[in-house]
Amino acid sequence: MKKSRLLPSMLSILLGTSLLVGCGGQATTSSGGESGGESSSGGGGEIHAKIGVVSFLSGSGAAYGEAQKAGLELAQEELNEANKGKLKIDLLFEDSGGKKESAINAVNKLINQDNVVAIIGPTLSGEMFAAGPIASEAETPIFGISNTAEGINDIGEYVFRNSLPESIAIPAAMKKAVDKLGIKSVAFIYASNDDFSVSGFETMKKTAEELGLENLGESTFSIGDVDFSAQLTKIKELNPDALLVSGLYKEGSLIVKKARELGIESTIIGGNGFNNPKVFEIAGDASEGLIVATPFSPEKKDEKVQAFVKAFEAKYGKQPDQFAAQAYDALYIMSQSLLAAGEADRNKLRDSLAQLKDFEGVSGKLSFDENRNPIGEAVVVVGKGGKYVPFE
Ligand code: ALA
Repeated sequence: MKKSRLLPSMLSILLGTSLLVGCGGQATTSSGGESGGESSSGGGGEIHAKIGVVSFLSGSGAAYGEAQKAGLELAQEELNEANKGKLKIDLLFEDSGGKKESAINAVNKLINQDNVVAIIGPTLSGEMFAAGPIASEAETPIFGISNTAEGINDIGEYVFRNSLPESIAIPAAMKKAVDKLGIKSVAFIYASNDDFSVSGFETMKKTAEELGLENLGESTFSIGDVDFSAQLTKIKELNPDALLVSGLYKEGSLIVKKARELGIESTIIGGNGFNNPKVFEIAGDASEGLIVATPFSPEKKDEKVQAFVKAFEAKYGKQPDQFAAQAYDALYIMSQSLLAAGEADRNKLRDSLAQLKDFEGVSGKLSFDENRNPIGEAVVVVGKGGKYVPFE
């Protein structure tokens, strides 16, 4: 964001907020009406917001995108009903297939052709590192719902995320595993051609050092690989108490499966890539005892969480995962911020998002730190009987 317009924008937000209060909660719209590009109003003061979504909807990580789309569409349905006459959200989906180049093209199209007020996604941290700068440069808010690598928000001041970073989730999982299982030595395996997986590995390694764990060895693979025998045979010889895996669900699950086939008995701890039910489908029984951390659990005894799980199950016939939950929360955050901004204006929305505080979502309470990173907590879960249950 250009410093010169920070103050006037803040003032307009403050004014907008008092206007909202003065009007008994009715959102105001810009006088520009329909002609304002991303900013348009329906009749009777309704804000009409076009939000672009860039997601991994096809290819090896399509289960992430599918969950995100489901979470967003459920939220859209609920919000458009609840905000009738005040705010109408249109979602414009673009499939990036998990590819940086496609994410860049999608972001360019959504900003320049479709005139969206903001973008949700892309799914992978690597895609965000590639496409986020374009949105930031175009002063268009871009909101990560699954980017968990370090450094995402350093891209620029229009970049937000509600996805809990690996730097919070991984230490939570590792500390709990060490406390409960007495782990003393570790080995690592990670995807060296994926930004998220590399970042997750770095957090795992740093955490192991902080916990005084012995590092027995580090191996790599590539996203797209299907044979991990060489790396895992070496890891079996090392015989670590815990094997730390940083990758996406497809390769990660195949690694877990092969590790058990080879007779590796180490506790397996994974990063955010494992937070998808596909893990149980691919790894089968080998997923028993797999430890991960997540900000969302469908088991949580919380009214809001249970209402979400019920609505999701009714619409899709299955439980939501973390990717669906963070997508669902993100659209609620967008909606709240658009109403506070008073119009579908990119800069006003950016400033409104930056002020988010104590948002009560299904994936926990959310505020942003000064770098627009989420402040939140992770629950540690373990694979049991084909699903994750709290690790207690
Ligand atoms: N959490 C994964 C990433 O950041 C999906 O790429």
